[in-house]
Amino acid sequence: MTFENTLEFAQNADAQDSLKQYRDEFFFPQHNGENVIYFTGNSLGLQPKSVINKIKVELDDWAKYGVEGHFDGTNPWFHYHKFFNESAARVVGAKPEEVVVMNNLTVNLHLMMVSFYQPKGERYKIIMEGGAFPSDQYAMESQVKFHGYEYDDAVIEVKPRTGEHHLRTEDILSVIEENKDSVALVMFSGVQYYTGQAFDMEKITAKAHQMGALAGFDLAHAAGNLVLKLHDWDVDFAVWCSYKYMNSGPGGVSGAFVHERHAKNPDLPRFAGWWGHSEDERFLMKRGFIPEYGAAGWQLSNAPVMTMAVHRASLDMFDQISMNQLFSKGLNLNGYLQYVIEDAARINDKLSFQIITPEERGCQLSVLTGDNGKELFDYLTEHGIIADWREPNVIRMAPVPFYNSFEDIYKFGQILKSF
Ligand SMILES: Cc1ncc(COP(=O)(O)O)c(C=O)c1O
Repeated sequence: MTFENTLEFAQNADAQDSLKQYRDEFFFPQHNGENVIYFTGNSLGLQPKSVINKIKVELDDWAKYGVEGHFDGTNPWFHYHKFFNESAARVVGAKPEEVVVMNNLTVNLHLMMVSFYQPKGERYKIIMEGGAFPSDQYAMESQVKFHGYEYDDAVIEVKPRTGEHHLRTEDILSVIEENKDSVALVMFSGVQYYTGQAFDMEKITAKAHQMGALAGFDLAHAAGNLVLKLHDWDVDFAVWCSYKYMNSGPGGVSGAFVHERHAKNPDLPRFAGWWGHSEDERFLMKRGFIPEYGAAGWQLSNAPVMTMAVHRASLDMFDQISMNQLFSKGLNLNGYLQYVIEDAARINDKLSFQIITPEERGCQLSVLTGDNGKELFDYLTEHGIIADWREPNVIRMAPVPFYNSFEDIYKFGQILKSF
């Protein structure tokens, strides 16, 4: 796409957008009686208008059937988690039995670590990206301590080279190779939350496997953003949340992927609960855990139907589009955002920026600001732009293909120029 910083260009691009009808399917927060320019779908996606009806179906069934809703309801709650497999699997590139929707992200990360971080002898180290999202750092720290190791010894953080902001794939691969005798698990995010860098999950997984380790990913910022092929890439496990690019509400339910070679292994260590127990025998209330086939065997509890109903509303939209379509619009929006920012910086001396998101990315752009960064951020907020400030001086923005438009970005550029 060749960009121009004009309203005409933006409106034409919107007119040709095959996803344009989805914008009207979402509620936008208001500023002075108008929709805000919402660039924080990487933090909390907007509410699909269909959510309220999805929840109402479940509330009505609860009122009408009480406990019998588990079998007689419109969407029988006993089977509720199964209504997500096909759709969630499409979003992350998996087989339906390799995914399950349950819990929240950090809970799922711990459940996966119980199964896939099995330190033995000299092989006990975890390799992860430096500056990972704090919850992941705490999860790794507590997991290694649980197995009797010290963080500084057992966790290797791969950091960018001096003067650089993102990691080079070659550096990640060399660190894995250098630790070939001691690495047990390579655990990365799919998209780095701070820089917006999309990691090469296929290469990282292949290298981890060559070195005798397993590979897992936190896809909080990748699910619903990138085209993922978890099964084909041979990833061992992954977890994601649904409240960012998957628009499923604050604290919304999470997803987990377990590759089929593990998912069909009943002997893997795991923390078990009754909902992961073989469905045929779940209500026999007997001793002895028999895991359900597939990722479903990692469930602990019965489905939280109300939050999952929200997720269903969102996945219905994902069912109507392809991830290629979504990803390619996200890249174009993001490219346009970068273009408009660079154009504004040429005109307005007060703007000094460095884009720290590399070309390997989805729809997030992270901008390192100058000394007046916070002042700029506050100015944007006052002018109806919702972006995200990360200490010490980064503004993160994500033009989301489901509901952001090229015109949003054009208008943002005009506000930026006027700072
Ligand atoms: C990369 C990443 N990992 C983990 C989390 C924590 O997610 P949860 O609160 O659902 O456990 C977040 C939350 O934003 C995140 O961005």
